[in-house]
Amino acid sequence: MSSVLLTGIGELVTNDPSLGDGGPLGVVTDAALVAEGGRVVWVGTAREAPPADAAQDVGGRAVIPGFVDSHSHLVFAGDRAAEFAARMSGQPYTAGGIRSTVAATRAATDEQLGATLTRLVAEMRRQGTTTVEVKSGYGLTVADEARSLALARRVTPETTYLGAHVVPPEYAEDAGAYVDLVTGPMLEACAPYARWVDAFCERGAFDVDQARAVLTAGMAAGLRPRLHANQLGHGPGIRLACELGAPAVDHCTYLDAADVEALASSGTVATLLPGVEFSTRQPYPDARALLDAGVTVALATDCNPGSSYTSSMPWCIATAVREMGMTPAEALWAATAGGARALERTDVGRLAPGARAHLAVLAAPSYLHLAYRPGVPLVAETWGD
Ligand code: NIG
Ligand code: FE
Repeated sequence: MSSVLLTGIGELVTNDPSLGDGGPLGVVTDAALVAEGGRVVWVGTAREAPPADAAQDVGGRAVIPGFVDSHSHLVFAGDRAAEFAARMSGQPYTAGGIRSTVAATRAATDEQLGATLTRLVAEMRRQGTTTVEVKSGYGLTVADEARSLALARRVTPETTYLGAHVVPPEYAEDAGAYVDLVTGPMLEACAPYARWVDAFCERGAFDVDQARAVLTAGMAAGLRPRLHANQLGHGPGIRLACELGAPAVDHCTYLDAADVEALASSGTVATLLPGVEFSTRQPYPDARALLDAGVTVALATDCNPGSSYTSSMPWCIATAVREMGMTPAEALWAATAGGARALERTDVGRLAPGARAHLAVLAAPSYLHLAYRPGVPLVAETWGD
């Protein structure tokens, strides 16, 4: 096994508060890092760096942990650009749009779905993402959900069974029978390929009792729970996720005091998805209120063809800073360590000895540029698996 010394790092974000400046980002200036066998084995100042088999000098650039995008839907066919254009001229977003992607996904071959998935993961990687969670949810038959997850498993261990995305048209008159399918034969077929179980708890999708049934069945099958909640309006979804001890609840666009309290006392991570509010013309979630209440916040893209067709974590950071009351430091932490927390991962989202050597070299002297230079391709190099 050979070691590599990355040196000349103007600013190294470790997300380890015991390192560097002692803040949550653990920033070390004039830094170096040694990786061996895919793991970080040493970090510190460049002048104290130990020798290694090879060395790369990044010339004063900033290095950050690779982004952990803890929420995406990359197994689909087609796009919904026309639906986006209609929204930009005043049409509302509804959960029902999902069904058009379901029809296209069912009609696609494994090769077509796999090609889109590979393209989007590569697009993410070029923008600094080194860990991505991928959901099913556009198949909605036993076979189509299972193949979606089998495809997702090829690109990530963080796969989520989302058979409860919407009720498909063939069950329109009998949602109860569809929930029975999702909690029965579909779960059985999907569980071998999934780490997580999720449901879309929202008007037009699944109510709180249906969502509870799906998550508890998934948990009984050995999956970890997470939930889409409070995206389109106020409701009981966030509180359900907290009650079930879900590591994360995602969207959290419409919050009331009881939701914030439930999040703060449960430790459930609130995953905010600014691409959705951008693309559906909704108000952005109040990240400031969550942070001030002591809630752990993650940022993710929710990359999907309907509500948020961005793959860019840097864009999410810039938008969260400008529109959601987060500081640049809080937003970077949420997009790295926060995402790792949401996925119950301790090996990613940080750059300290023992962590995976997943990192992004920025074409900038500081992580501040991620928000300061929105829309600019600032990721010069990505190291992942
Ligand atoms: O996370 N909210 C539900 N599911 C996706 C939207 C999917 C779609 O519109 O196709 C989301 O926003
Ligand atoms: Fe989603």
